[in-house]
Amino acid sequence: MSAPRGQFSSNIGFLMAAAGSAVGLGNIWGFPTKAASNGGAAFVVVYLLLAFLLAYPALMAELTIGRHARRNMVQALREISIGPISRFFGSLAGFGGILVASLILSFYAIVAGWMVAHLAEPFASLFGASGAVEWLTGNSTARNLTFTAIFSGLTMLIIAAGVEKGIERWSTLLMPSLIILLLLLIAYVLTQPGAVTGLEVYLMPDFSHLSPKLLIAAMGQAFFSLSLGVGTMLIYGSYLSQQESLPRLGALVTLIDVGIAFTAGLLILPAMYVAQEAGTQIFSESGELIAGPGLILQVLPALFDTMGTAGLFVAIAFFALMVIASLTSSISMLEVPVAFTIENLGVPRRLATPLVGLIIFAISSTIIVNFDTLFGLVVSISTEYGQPLLGVALCVFAGWIWRRDQLLAELKKGHENIEQTLFWKIWPWYVRIVCPLLILTAFAQSVM
Ligand code: PHE
Repeated sequence: MSAPRGQFSSNIGFLMAAAGSAVGLGNIWGFPTKAASNGGAAFVVVYLLLAFLLAYPALMAELTIGRHARRNMVQALREISIGPISRFFGSLAGFGGILVASLILSFYAIVAGWMVAHLAEPFASLFGASGAVEWLTGNSTARNLTFTAIFSGLTMLIIAAGVEKGIERWSTLLMPSLIILLLLLIAYVLTQPGAVTGLEVYLMPDFSHLSPKLLIAAMGQAFFSLSLGVGTMLIYGSYLSQQESLPRLGALVTLIDVGIAFTAGLLILPAMYVAQEAGTQIFSESGELIAGPGLILQVLPALFDTMGTAGLFVAIAFFALMVIASLTSSISMLEVPVAFTIENLGVPRRLATPLVGLIIFAISSTIIVNFDTLFGLVVSISTEYGQPLLGVALCVFAGWIWRRDQLLAELKKGHENIEQTLFWKIWPWYVRIVCPLLILTAFAQSVM
């Protein structure tokens, strides 16, 4: 039943894929706007701390378990279990991961579909097709279904091509393009009037905002941004060669993710204040910064409109950036259920991909048709409940259930002297005690 498994051909390939998974709408949209509405640099500082003190250790748990087991999350957690009870919980968490990854993809594909539609809009403008422009930027069910289908189709095409030819090849191509586009856009926006005010809002810490609410927002953001809890990083780890040092690669992924989130803030916040300078409203009636879909879909397009023809190209660059970031993340979500279908059900990849992809598209379509009731609900169930709880389960498996000698043996591969490192002195008890407690405390706070 076990088909030959894919593998990343190089550590750069893995880095691009894992960083591609991590860097997504969460970085370019979620992080800057959360920073702006939670005290600017105060949020940035707390986020940086949490990313390295909480998310990085949890990421290491996933990567290590994945590379050791060389299987999807269900099989991997069963494999490191020690008896029937832990095996049962392993399956439960594994299936939970598959379900939550699929739910995240089902709403993510909708939002990414908006990005594709807005990427098409400047082209329609260039050709003077005003009817098309209206349709592309209007929020109709037909438009949403169409563009979610297009985005889901692209995701499926890449995943059907496999680990090396699909995930690795496309991530290695798209990630550098993303960084170049981001830097070009920043260079442009920072020359516009109003940009400095945005920088100030982003970078001047207002520590009066420090509160449990800020902490929870930062933790949720760190978990979502590093793609944790749902087995994405676990499955990518399972395609990784044993010659690489996991702590080092994990740290690099975290650094790239945090670095791009921070850099995206240098674009989004200044762009908002440039838009304000150009006459667009950026505060809602209650005086809060517009941070939801309105920001990306109204404030920024309004800004591009004021720039004349140049604005069309800036809009293309901006929405291309969003689509690329979304795509390298969505493929990593789809790989979770697809890998399970291939490995546990014996279905070949080329069949498993459209099968799973269409089921998830059906969920997306149901959400689109019942947007007001379902969208927020699915986001909240998957990211506010699913991800942290599964994150705890993964830490418990790495810290309590998995035998310590096996864990050490896995980490030693590609990092001979790991026992002498600070990492080995701290991480094992950290992932055992501190991570689950921190996550659970924050979770309890947010639920109450
Ligand atoms: N990390 C992605 C982002 O920041 C989202 C994601 C979550 C990807 C969970 C995979 C799994 O947008």
